[in-house]
Amino acid sequence: MCGIVGYIGRREAAPLLLESLRKLEYRGYDSAGIAVLNSGKVAIRRCEGKLGNLEEILARSSLPGTIGIGHTRWATHGRPSETNAHPHRAGDIVVVHNGIIENYLELKEQLSRLGSRFESETDTEIVAHLVDAKLSNGADFLTAVRHSLKEIQGSYALVFLNQRDPERLIVAKNSTPIVVGWGEGETFIASDIPALLDYTRKVTFLEDGEVGEVTAKGLRVLNGKGKAVQRAVKEITGDAVAAQKGGYRHFMLKEIHEQPRALTDTFRGRISLKEGDVSLEGVPLARIHVVACGTAWHAALVGKFMLEEIAGIPAEVDYGSEFRYRSPLIDSRSLLLPISQSGETADTLAAVELGRKRKAKVVSICNVVDSSLARKSDGVFYTRAGPEISVASTKAFSTQLAALYLFAIGLGRLTGRLQRSEAKRLTEDLLCLPHQVEEALKLEGDLEALSRELSSATDFLYLGRGINYPIALEGALKLKEISYIHAEGYPAGEMKHGPIALIDERMPVVVLLPKDRYFQKTLGNLKEVESRGGKVIAVTDQADGAIDAAAYRVLTVPRASYFLTPIVLAIPLQLLADEIAVHRGTDVDQPRNLAKSVTVE
Ligand code: M6R
Repeated sequence: MCGIVGYIGRREAAPLLLESLRKLEYRGYDSAGIAVLNSGKVAIRRCEGKLGNLEEILARSSLPGTIGIGHTRWATHGRPSETNAHPHRAGDIVVVHNGIIENYLELKEQLSRLGSRFESETDTEIVAHLVDAKLSNGADFLTAVRHSLKEIQGSYALVFLNQRDPERLIVAKNSTPIVVGWGEGETFIASDIPALLDYTRKVTFLEDGEVGEVTAKGLRVLNGKGKAVQRAVKEITGDAVAAQKGGYRHFMLKEIHEQPRALTDTFRGRISLKEGDVSLEGVPLARIHVVACGTAWHAALVGKFMLEEIAGIPAEVDYGSEFRYRSPLIDSRSLLLPISQSGETADTLAAVELGRKRKAKVVSICNVVDSSLARKSDGVFYTRAGPEISVASTKAFSTQLAALYLFAIGLGRLTGRLQRSEAKRLTEDLLCLPHQVEEALKLEGDLEALSRELSSATDFLYLGRGINYPIALEGALKLKEISYIHAEGYPAGEMKHGPIALIDERMPVVVLLPKDRYFQKTLGNLKEVESRGGKVIAVTDQADGAIDAAAYRVLTVPRASYFLTPIVLAIPLQLLADEIAVHRGTDVDQPRNLAKSVTVE
């Protein structure tokens, strides 16, 4: 994962690099570091932990100079520590890296035999040694980098600084994004666009296998064979990331509350109430493969119900990490539908590569405009959630569900399965959703005391059925990632096949129990839990004496249509996780061991 940045120009590099890294902290926050070249000497400041620590170090001991590189790390090889923090150095070469060098142990052995001494446990440090060794053998900077890359296997976005060359930085890319921003007499490098938007709107994306020579005047791109290639300069439109908490105690809570607006934005302008249509054209209709990771995978599971029932098209759902390594039956008649908030998730992108090789059409559901996923897709259905800063995904999830719903309606019209009047009714249901979500958000006040009480539990179960079973998975994921309490989501009907053995009076069990086609069945499961002493927190959409009689607490959300109920039910689960995490004193927005974008496999 990790975020990398670089700068060459006329301004002081260190404060600018720090500011850009702040926009990339979602990619990892295990350690941070900056290297700046000044008067023929590179100086490095690094530290374990978040960027705030690096900022303090720089305030005490500044780094003058107008060319430099920076890094914020999510540890893959080597624990989070100052020694393992980037930038890494060998002789004159200093490097920052995002990705994984798969053959690093083999290279490390070779280099050790030739006399290299390594300080860190990272895979990255060997890259600096490789390039430095080639420089020592007389190669120029660019050639040394290009030849070193031939020996490396794996994924990388790399930025190199050479102590003896104050006029340029060298960048390289393979399977991990890197973007170069064009200024006036200055050039910027970053893993992702938001890190550049304060400085420029003109950017160039490097492609896999390319190497770039970055000077204050701009960028020269070479392909794998060393031939200069022309890469377009793209003008970025849209707003810079508005990373303000707006009075909320953390971003997650702010983002939970932004959902009514985010949902409205996602469907605004995309539905014609008169015609009952969502326009989709040129999409293959034989079979849909949905691929995603984490929360987006939960959205995909809900999407399967929508695509099959509304559009009448078989849909398979896979984790990106599984899809990429099996032999899916996919061809030019298939539609690959990746879902991703960031559009940078490595496994999802790899699944797309596979789909493209098999000639499938790729239409993605994505939140980040111009992300790698968006650029690799034939078409993009953008969720308009706005920037999601908190690691725990909330508004991206609900807008993914809204996007899938719209998508299913559009496909249903294309296949002819949906009559116009039926499509019109479904789109009208969507118009009520923002208000229903707003009402569900009002449960926040009721959750304070309950969350305090539940915050000492060590395990939770979440149960749901049918279209709401993925919401049980999502509720459990939210709780574990921000509160560090072990939680499992389960289909309610599977309880008797094992998990019921876990139930005792210490086990809170959150049961999703809307008044839908499964109500009586799930109510039966609720009673089974209750009769074994489990503490049931029922989430329903209609008061019912039978629920009151068996549940420890009942949370009632507004009643939405069948396909949109999952969005409304997710709200109290997000709020509950947030409140419990606050009681446990965890870092809600940046939980331990996680990063917002998982850009390595
Ligand atoms: O950016 P993506 O939607 O592709 O990210 C996928 C997962 O990494 C992400 O949803 C993760 O599971 C979240 N932390 C969950 O809250």
